[in-house]
Amino acid sequence: MSKHEYLMESGDEATRLENKTVEAQTVQHMELVGLREGMTVLDAGAGTGAVARTMARLVGATGSVVALDQSEERLRHGRALAKGIENLSFVQGDLKNVALPSNQFDMVWSRFVFEYLKQPELVLKQLGELAKPNGRVVVGDLDGNGLFHFPISAQMSQQLEALQSVLEGVFDPLVGRKLYTLFRRSGFTDIRTHVLPYHVYAGEANREGLENWEQKFATIRTVAMGAFPSERAYDHFVQEFMGMLRDPDVFTYSILIIVEGTPPK
Ligand SMILES: C[S@@+](CC[C@H](N)C(=O)[O-])C[C@H]1O[C@@H](n2cnc3c(N)ncnc32)[C@H](O)[C@@H]1O
Repeated sequence: MSKHEYLMESGDEATRLENKTVEAQTVQHMELVGLREGMTVLDAGAGTGAVARTMARLVGATGSVVALDQSEERLRHGRALAKGIENLSFVQGDLKNVALPSNQFDMVWSRFVFEYLKQPELVLKQLGELAKPNGRVVVGDLDGNGLFHFPISAQMSQQLEALQSVLEGVFDPLVGRKLYTLFRRSGFTDIRTHVLPYHVYAGEANREGLENWEQKFATIRTVAMGAFPSERAYDHFVQEFMGMLRDPDVFTYSILIIVEGTPPK
């Protein structure tokens, strides 16, 4: 695993994150969770800040956004892409131990990060401490990432299961359904949940979707190999999976679950 133990670590990760982020979708999510002009916001695990740039526009000149990530490389990309956006800054840090003053953000947002965390309870606690009293912590992640397809062969189902077990501890494709309970048991109050479709391919996936999945399988290759008897078997599995995403008869989906709550103080 990489030095940060982030499963998707690769030289192409910055580009992958930029390509898969859809601004209209971000705006919809921000409306749902009540992002408003003037707010101070932390994007925790921001990657290159594709979401943070939209948040900065929505909070306007009277608000501000801090994009935090552990990867200097993605932050470097992020800073270049955000040139001229005065109310957006980038900070390097580890979410398990964030070196920022407590009680300073109206909203702490973290999307597509918890699926990679070994210690989600610890990170949620940290995020809660960074939010102001009566601020909101918002965590969004997928349920069924890569898992839900119809029709699907028995062999493909078994391979996906095997893959899921070798990824245990570095990637949880079912983390979405666990977020509400995590918030509850961490003492958050006024918890609201939003359930949205994600990665919905009725028939052939679009080009961005296909490229995104190809790249994911290339990046996780070394770790994923643990679920396959040979390199050839893994290549065959990837080919079959991509074939499923290209099949006009196959329906694929996952669910984005966004949970928001007020942290305990
Ligand atoms: C899949 S990307 C999500 C980026 C962005 N939030 C989005 O919605 O597209 C996950 C990001 O979380 C960051 N990350 C994962 N674990 C982290 C940690 N413990 N501390 C800081 N960043 C972390 C990774 O470096 C990566 O850039």
